[in-house]
Amino acid sequence: MSRLKVALLANLKANAPRFEGMPADQWDDLDSEKTVNALVEAIRTGGHECEFLEGDLTLYDHVRAFQPDICFNICEGHFGDAREAQVPAMLEMLRIPYTGSKVLSLALALDKPMTKRILHWHGLPTPAFQTFERADDPLDDDLTFPLFAKPSREGTGMGVTARSIVNTEAELRERVGYIHERYKQPALVEHYIAGREVTVGVVGNLQGPVARHLPVNRAARRIEAGLRFLPPMEVDLQPYLETDAVYSNRLKVALADQLDYLCPAPLSNEQVDELNWLTAAVFRVTGAVDVSRVDFRLDANDHWRPYILEINPLPGLSPGTSDLVIEAAAQDMGHAELVNLILDTALERYGLR
Ligand SMILES: Nc1ncnc2c1ncn2[C@@H]1O[C@H](COP(=O)(O)OP(=O)(O)OP(=O)(O)O)[C@@H](O)[C@H]1O
Ligand SMILES: [Mg+2]
Repeated sequence: MSRLKVALLANLKANAPRFEGMPADQWDDLDSEKTVNALVEAIRTGGHECEFLEGDLTLYDHVRAFQPDICFNICEGHFGDAREAQVPAMLEMLRIPYTGSKVLSLALALDKPMTKRILHWHGLPTPAFQTFERADDPLDDDLTFPLFAKPSREGTGMGVTARSIVNTEAELRERVGYIHERYKQPALVEHYIAGREVTVGVVGNLQGPVARHLPVNRAARRIEAGLRFLPPMEVDLQPYLETDAVYSNRLKVALADQLDYLCPAPLSNEQVDELNWLTAAVFRVTGAVDVSRVDFRLDANDHWRPYILEINPLPGLSPGTSDLVIEAAAQDMGHAELVNLILDTALERYGLR
């Protein structure tokens, strides 16, 4: 393939704006210099010219000056309800191609309740839920304790600790109030699914005309064509059942390199097939492209039935530590190979390959 000009667009934690009263985990989902450098190197290894551009307001001038053939986009954004969609919106106005999901899917996936409404409409399994705009909203009759409360629009386990599991009305009110106060957004309250923690990465694009509905005949498995599933990864939460019980911000950030990642997760072929089908289904109904990671909990109280927690259309790509990178490694795919696979998938989608 010919040598292309690729701009790597990311938000460096070091460049993020600071403000008074900023929570300590405010920028936990932004990228480190180490990750950005590794991505630039990976794209150069693929035979392309590559420069990093910060995905803030300076991007408009910088991207027009650089004139890339395509952008490799991993920008999480800084402010706003649809912050992950802002850079793609600008690129579309400039008519510059970019990797990964587009404006609508990125804005949707960042909003977990909105995503869950869509999953629910399609009959896909996601924990029963309610959003709390106010701490004293009445609790729906069909939601029974234990419940799980988290911010509606964050990632990297921000706002997720053992205290997210609430067992009484008083604990629920306390936690919802805390989420409003600290994260300034509605709280998402779900049924708590006790069990195993599994995530599935996928690279590729759906083939053929893709209406956003699911085939009636599931056995035909049409929706998986064109997608490459990475082996499912399980986070072994066993050692942390007393302290965290869930994949908390503390585990994702402070203890990331001490965790045991089981990859491929010890699951039967039938279970893997089921998770892959669900991953493809979520990818499809949310309109994702090129790459994503879908997070599940397997219900210990119901034969390990899988529940979809969320789709991450901008999954972390930090060498050695990000879930997707660990999954690729389990298939003997190195970091650079994974990054170039995502890039090539986007190039193909745009007809640039
Ligand atoms: N309904 C639930 N029942 C049990 N555990 C849950 C539930 N919702 C979330 N969790 C736990 O909290 C973790 C983080 O939740 P979720 O994946 O929604 O948030 P996130 O911060 O967006 O994660 P990511 O880092 O993948 O962006 C999950 O991996 C899981 O361990
Ligand atoms: Mg998650």
